[in-house]
Amino acid sequence: MAQRETWATRAGFILAAVGSAVGLGNVWRFPYQVGEFGGAAFLVVYLALIAVIGFPVILVEFTVGRYTDRNPVGALKQIGTGSWQRIGWVFVLAGFVILSYYSVIAGWVLQYTVYGLQGNYAADGAAQFGATTGGMMSVLTHAIFMAAVIAVVGFGIQRGIEFSVKLMVPAIIILLAGLAIYAGTLPNAGEAYAYYLSPELGTIAANWTSILPAAAAQAFFTLSLGMGVMITYASYLGEDRNLAKDAVIIVGLDTAIAFTVGLVAFPVLFSGDLAVADIVAIGDGPGFIFIALSQAFSNIPFGSVLGAVFFGTVTIAALSSAISIMEVVVSYLIDERGVDRVPATLLIGTVIFLFGVPVAYDGSLSWLTVYDELANNILLILGALLLAIYIGWVKTDLGLEELGKGIRNLGGWGTAWIWALRIPVVVTLVVILGLNAIGAYEAISGILG
Ligand code: PHE
Ligand code: NA
Repeated sequence: MAQRETWATRAGFILAAVGSAVGLGNVWRFPYQVGEFGGAAFLVVYLALIAVIGFPVILVEFTVGRYTDRNPVGALKQIGTGSWQRIGWVFVLAGFVILSYYSVIAGWVLQYTVYGLQGNYAADGAAQFGATTGGMMSVLTHAIFMAAVIAVVGFGIQRGIEFSVKLMVPAIIILLAGLAIYAGTLPNAGEAYAYYLSPELGTIAANWTSILPAAAAQAFFTLSLGMGVMITYASYLGEDRNLAKDAVIIVGLDTAIAFTVGLVAFPVLFSGDLAVADIVAIGDGPGFIFIALSQAFSNIPFGSVLGAVFFGTVTIAALSSAISIMEVVVSYLIDERGVDRVPATLLIGTVIFLFGVPVAYDGSLSWLTVYDELANNILLILGALLLAIYIGWVKTDLGLEELGKGIRNLGGWGTAWIWALRIPVVVTLVVILGLNAIGAYEAISGILG
């Protein structure tokens, strides 16, 4: 068998991980949640959870990946005993399902980039969104996006993923910074900043039972955790570097970029004739970026150009995330089944495309909800929880030894890491999983019944 691939440079690994982290989660979930859950107060909770939950879990995925040099299924087979050997499947399954609809949404983002280029954002954002989703056009944009994912992943770790993220990640940062500066000149920017940045402690006190799980779920999704992406990417690391340092850079950049998106989105919304109540009423996720934001772009100076740049940037961000999910599944076929990269990528890409077709074709978004509830709210949390329990409580020595390889005096920090996994991570994830299971049951039975 050919030698397993590795990253060419340290920067390559970090940029690939940042590319994975920065995606639709930063754009369509983050600003809305900040707004809905009390502005800067949500930010404080979110940052605390990133530190206490997100950071320890990203380190678990990194250590498991680097220790085993394997995809998630192979990695758990290698270090696991008994039924633990099988938890790698949760990751691969989650990746498979999530990519199938992530690509559909990315296809809509592509379509909205084209609307911008055509000067075509509608004053009635809801009607335009309704016309965009569902039907053959939506299947087509899904196909175009998946083809791009297949192309990048097919070229492999160095010539495909590493090469492309070196272009994509700087482009995302530069374009967003430019947009944020322009957004600051819009007429209602001051009012928007006040809404986005001033903590409303009353809101947080009244809603903390919903804020905590929302912030934790956001922290997981935005850092690409629970899907084995970070296991897989770390498995291509050759040497023993300081994983904690890399994690700080990755988490820091993802958070900074999410924050910057808010600096673009809120001035645009507030200057585009939308009030806070309208924005909240339109809802999160799809509604936020496709309805509220695009409608606002139709109302502000140079809105079409701005919108094209914005949605173009989001397309790039979605692509650099989608390739990381695809790589999880492809690496499984390469490592465990001995399939060559190109046929593995074509096969997986095609199957995931087909799996996403119902989501793309169905304009009611019901399929999207079902996929999203199952994969994002259940599988992703479950995978992370099981892995945190396994390393935190069972394979503690393995974790500490591997993390310690690139860190000279791990000592008390290592103990703190293990205890963070044992109690705060496990407790939070169990609570979220419970709440999400109830939510998923209600959402799905609502759709079916
Ligand atoms: N982190 C990505 C985002 O913010 C989503 C993602 C989740 C990507 C899990 C890969 C794995 O959009
Ligand atoms: Na993210």
